[in-house]
Amino acid sequence: MSRRKALVIGGDEIFRAITPQRATQCVRDAFVRHHNGEWQMPAKVYLTNEPHGDFRAMPASGDGIAILKWVTSFPDNRAKGLPVVVGVILVSDATTGEWLALVDGTAVTALRTGAAAAVATRALARDDAATIGLVGCGLHGTWAGRCLVAEGYTDGICADADEDAARKVADELGWRTGTTADALGCDVVTLVTPGHAPIITKRHLREGLHLNALGADGPGKAEVDPDAVAACRLFCDEWAQASHGGELTGAVAQGLIGRDDVTDLGGVLAGEEVGRSGPADITLFDSTGLAIQDLALVVELMRLHEAGHLKAGSVEL
Ligand SMILES: NC(=O)c1ccc[n+]([C@@H]2O[C@H](COP(=O)([O-])OP(=O)(O)OC[C@H]3O[C@@H](n4cnc5c(N)ncnc54)[C@H](O)[C@@H]3O)[C@@H](O)[C@H]2O)c1
Repeated sequence: MSRRKALVIGGDEIFRAITPQRATQCVRDAFVRHHNGEWQMPAKVYLTNEPHGDFRAMPASGDGIAILKWVTSFPDNRAKGLPVVVGVILVSDATTGEWLALVDGTAVTALRTGAAAAVATRALARDDAATIGLVGCGLHGTWAGRCLVAEGYTDGICADADEDAARKVADELGWRTGTTADALGCDVVTLVTPGHAPIITKRHLREGLHLNALGADGPGKAEVDPDAVAACRLFCDEWAQASHGGELTGAVAQGLIGRDDVTDLGGVLAGEEVGRSGPADITLFDSTGLAIQDLALVVELMRLHEAGHLKAGSVEL
């Protein structure tokens, strides 16, 4: 039987090779290519694993490769000193089916999740939006902050139940720390908490606000109260995921919103759908996390390796 060597690409090398700015470009492009039908992606599959959380299987294909990300959301991992999101990405050749690489899914997830926040903010926030309120400064909040800074948002307030976490991120980004109320007063609010309880209710909504809801990426999680969700102009990464395992789920279940009330971000980025219609809109982007975002970074990693700009190990099976 013939054996094939596959690359092994670790997290440190991923963060070294792909800057937040480049990740944001790649993810923006991925949303458009998926919208145009060039890249394929079925909805992710959840495997519940109580009391620890859930596993997700996330396939996608495009640009000659196919990936499968196998990843967790285990909220209690943090107390064990482990990431909430732990995973690997298997990369296959889409023509022959041979496997090409094994990639650190934890690093890719952090980078592509942060990038989605930057892409959505640039597309949907007011043109004069200058301040970012970051609520939840764990791993994914940190990368959202890094990508937002790379996108040009250089002023913000970091808030976290753990003050040290907020301080660390604020110091790195050159932002300030504050209370959740301070953060909710910013032009753009990015929520990256575990989604155990809503942070935002209707009384927090102001004309012109843009919200990125990143933390609620699975069943039973919410960072925005359903009434507040229904009061916003709504955008999501993908309806099938967002309506069943995202921030929109509660409002859908209560019959407050339906498919026609929500626009896909890819359509806006492709120039086929209207985004913000004016400065008074209150916009909300529901990010549940898409396999095409992971694919975007894997395509970039494979390209960098081909060009000799990426260090990778190898394994033979
Ligand atoms: N949308 C996506 O694509 C995507 C991708 C990855 C992870 N996630 C989700 O994002 C969430 C955060 O993941 P993480 O890996 O950054 O977790 P983490 O544990 O590293 O960080 C969460 C942070 O939120 C803080 N926090 C908790 N409750 C809070 C509250 N009420 N107010 C303010 N801060 C609070 C915690 O102190 C912690 O610092 C999880 O639910 C995860 O599943 C979403």
